Amino acid sequence: MKTELFVYTGTGNSLWIARQLAVGLEDTAIKFMPFLSGEFEVNADRIGIIFPVHIWGLPRRVIRFINHLKTKPETYFFAVAVNAGQVAATLLQLQKLMSAQKKQLSLGYSISLPSNYIPWGGPGPVDTQQRLFKNAQDKVKSIAHAILRGERQKVDRGPLWQNILFSRIYKMSFRQVPKMDKKFWTDDKCNGCEICFKVCPAENIEMKNEKPSWLHQCEQCLACIQWCPQEAIQYGKKTVKYRRYHHPEVTLQNMLEQANAS
Ligand SMILES: Cc1cc2nc3c(=O)[nH]c(=O)nc-3n(C[C@H](O)[C@H](O)[C@H](O)COP(=O)(O)O)c2cc1C
Repeated sequence: MKTELFVYTGTGNSLWIARQLAVGLEDTAIKFMPFLSGEFEVNADRIGIIFPVHIWGLPRRVIRFINHLKTKPETYFFAVAVNAGQVAATLLQLQKLMSAQKKQLSLGYSISLPSNYIPWGGPGPVDTQQRLFKNAQDKVKSIAHAILRGERQKVDRGPLWQNILFSRIYKMSFRQVPKMDKKFWTDDKCNGCEICFKVCPAENIEMKNEKPSWLHQCEQCLACIQWCPQEAIQYGKKTVKYRRYHHPEVTLQNMLEQANAS
């Protein structure tokens, strides 16, 4: 059975989960999720959707991918919503979106990894990160078994209060996301290396006078701030004092492949 894993990632956590999952499944290809404007046909028997939770819901890229995806009617779908501890109703949102497209999400899992939401702080201590990686690896093994058995289960979700409250915040903020890049700025460590421009999967950065300028079609993946080798990109006032993060087994080269695939 042929499996294709479609990944979207800002700092590599989702890509790392996809790699772990591919080990447990046979005949599996990992592909980056394109940002589509037209139909996209996939003929795999099984399709996995692996993405970060953004503001307690689906990133715009995932919504567009589902809306443009054409598959065989019998395709088996599963998803992993990678997050920092609050999946809330993200997988219920995905399930609803897919069922409106006559696609059935058979399995939907939440996996917690270090947070890349740097406006709220760094990724946490290294030993906590290691524990999260280990727990994730264990969970991925059981996910792979469930996929191989063709199981159908209730999708993971947060507590009811979280799902209600945070889904409201998600809805209120969704339309603001493209313009949230107004808070990015560069300090004097910026040497114009253009990595932010190259790593952005949304083509949301142009270089002006050898400095990045954001174009207000941001997806808030935070790749620009997290992958800047000089740590010269800031978001608001607090990020100056926070550590940057990307998954230790994911390279800048991997991220450039995503940006070039888009
Ligand atoms: C804009 C933004 C919003 C986020 N919102 C949430 C959230 O609602 N719940 C949560 O648990 N993590 C949230 N996170 C953290 C990421 O989901 C988490 O760090 C994830 O592992 C990042 O995966 P990636 O490296 O594949 O992008 C958010 C991150 C970003 C950048």
